[in-house]
Amino acid sequence: MVRKLAAGNWKMNGTAENLGEVDALKAALPRPEVDVLICPPTTLLSRVAERLDGSGIGTGGQDCHSVRAGAHTGDISAPMLADAGASHVILGHSERRNDHGETDADVRDKAKGAIAADLTPIICVGETLAEREAANTLAIIGGQLAGSIPDIVTGDRLVIAYEPVWAIGTGKVPDTDQIGEVHDFIRAKLEQRFGVGVGRAVPILYGGSVKAGNAAEIFAVSNVGGALVGGASLKAADFAPIVAALQGA
Ligand code: PGA
Repeated sequence: MVRKLAAGNWKMNGTAENLGEVDALKAALPRPEVDVLICPPTTLLSRVAERLDGSGIGTGGQDCHSVRAGAHTGDISAPMLADAGASHVILGHSERRNDHGETDADVRDKAKGAIAADLTPIICVGETLAEREAANTLAIIGGQLAGSIPDIVTGDRLVIAYEPVWAIGTGKVPDTDQIGEVHDFIRAKLEQRFGVGVGRAVPILYGGSVKAGNAAEIFAVSNVGGALVGGASLKAADFAPIVAALQGA
């Protein structure tokens, strides 16, 4: 059985005044039956982790440097995230790939750094609208998977998130056939490269405009093992029903 995961990506949102949402989420999900993560900005990570201690809800970072320490002003390393309480780290999000020019090779090196620090990387892949319209979706996803995942992964030390760039923060969502096609493709690629045992154990999340209203339909799609949620993770009242839909899937 692949563990299901609902991960909330707060992106560059949140200061101390938003910590009440963490308490509200804890109250709304007293005993989560699936894995639940909040990935707040790094400045809030240790405070969120402290509030969630013992709740069954974990925390993750949104990026990390590939090396464990050194002269890299402004960067955060994987051991620092782990020290602040994180169990996971989102890597290669399309906003990082766009805003910071991160390449597949950068993402792979960061994932190696994360695994060395006992963090589970959530490696993001996804096509742009132009790539989908040119019927290049699977070629793009295949290339990103090949380039971004290091050879050293194990089934319980990797999560993949399929996030079509055109669906992030737009309210547009691929239809369930489109989601299923990509998720089945990702599963097949993981099994080919890492063997069936490891390939089947990796949760494959869908991300891009997931909301309470569309979550159940998305979670019913083949090989969808959960969601990476942006906007709808900022408020417990929006995120808790998504987690509930995953529990019921
Ligand atoms: P969204 O973001 O849910 O706001 O579309 C998803 C993501 O970027 O992880």
